[in-house]
Amino acid sequence: MPPAKPTNPQTLPLSKLDWEKITPFLGDAHGGVARFDALAANNPEAKLLLSPLTTQEAVSSSRIEGTQATLEEVLRFQAEGKASGEKRDDFQEVMNYREALETAVVQMEKLPLSGRLLKNTHKILLSGARGKQKDPGNFRNGPVWVGSPGATIETARYVPPEARHVPDLFSNLEKYIHGKEKNELVQLAIVHAQFEIIHPFLDGNGRLGRLLMPLFLYHKKTITTPYFYLSEYLEKHRDEYYDRLNRITAKGDWEQWIIFFLRAVAEQSCAGSVKAQKIIDLKKDTLERVQEATHSQYAPQVANFLFTRPFFTGVQFRDEVAVPKSSVGNLFVRLEKNKIITKIVPGKGRRTSFCAFPQLVLLLQEA
Ligand SMILES: Nc1ncnc2c1ncn2[C@@H]1O[C@H](COP(=O)(O)OP(=O)(O)O)[C@@H](O)[C@H]1O
Ligand SMILES: [Mg+2]
Repeated sequence: MPPAKPTNPQTLPLSKLDWEKITPFLGDAHGGVARFDALAANNPEAKLLLSPLTTQEAVSSSRIEGTQATLEEVLRFQAEGKASGEKRDDFQEVMNYREALETAVVQMEKLPLSGRLLKNTHKILLSGARGKQKDPGNFRNGPVWVGSPGATIETARYVPPEARHVPDLFSNLEKYIHGKEKNELVQLAIVHAQFEIIHPFLDGNGRLGRLLMPLFLYHKKTITTPYFYLSEYLEKHRDEYYDRLNRITAKGDWEQWIIFFLRAVAEQSCAGSVKAQKIIDLKKDTLERVQEATHSQYAPQVANFLFTRPFFTGVQFRDEVAVPKSSVGNLFVRLEKNKIITKIVPGKGRRTSFCAFPQLVLLLQEA
């Protein structure tokens, strides 16, 4: 096999696209997106209740290229703050992802969806952890390649364009993002793929390209809340995801990529809606159980706390539950007695206890 050469990508908009092949897949994809968006938009507690889905997205997206962390580990780390070496870096990357996404949504109120905004986001994504050596916040000025771990530019599966072409290719992509296309989900499929093809950064291109998805649809007002998560599906179908991206530059086959993407959207929005509805139902049920167990006027604050932190320490409960300090001890005892919370590690001496709200943890782990 001859060594791979840097790609010379097509610019956007695509001059030829066979819409007849694509159109049959649009209905299910749009239906799925609209259903999830309606769930989120109609729930006043969406930000709180969908927060674990955002963490799940961060976990899955980071895992696509090697980060090992699981959702449970990350949720535990958020409470315990303890981890060593490699694992700590993994958790840091996942938490960066969440922060990058949330910050970008806020920045979008003032900045257009642009190279500048994406560079800011990249900077947060790669801060600390391993990213530091990967020039966070700046386009690359050298070659990169995509392949199995340890691959060289000669054995790479895909070699993105030379660094000197990145600024022009990126402005072309930016223009396309702000232009009109016949369909916004198809436009997003093209935007994501072109972003990966350009590979503007030294590292973090996969994650940033996936993080761009909710930003794009929110910007286009296809969705009214900034929630749109695809990574669980892409992680499950990782080989196909990579292969279909590869066939764009290898064979010029955009349609098969777009169809794959639309199927992913349909399937993952459906799974996301089911899970979101289960979380909403669990919240209602939990509030009732807390009320019965405690007969406290503070039951809503307690239930909110449990959904913010499915794992927590005794100290966090005391400090964050938004209940007068004099009631905290009594509430805690009643929650534990009624098995709403579980003490995983009891407190000892000066060490605080470590606890869980097991029903939410279990629900989040359901496939
Ligand atoms: N053949 C390909 N052509 C273009 N992009 C690809 C190809 N194969 C994989 N990719 C993209 O490259 C990403 C990996 O790039 P990288 O910069 O290491 O991102 P990250 O560090 O976020 O995982 C993958 O997640 C995928 O989106
Ligand atoms: Mg990488």
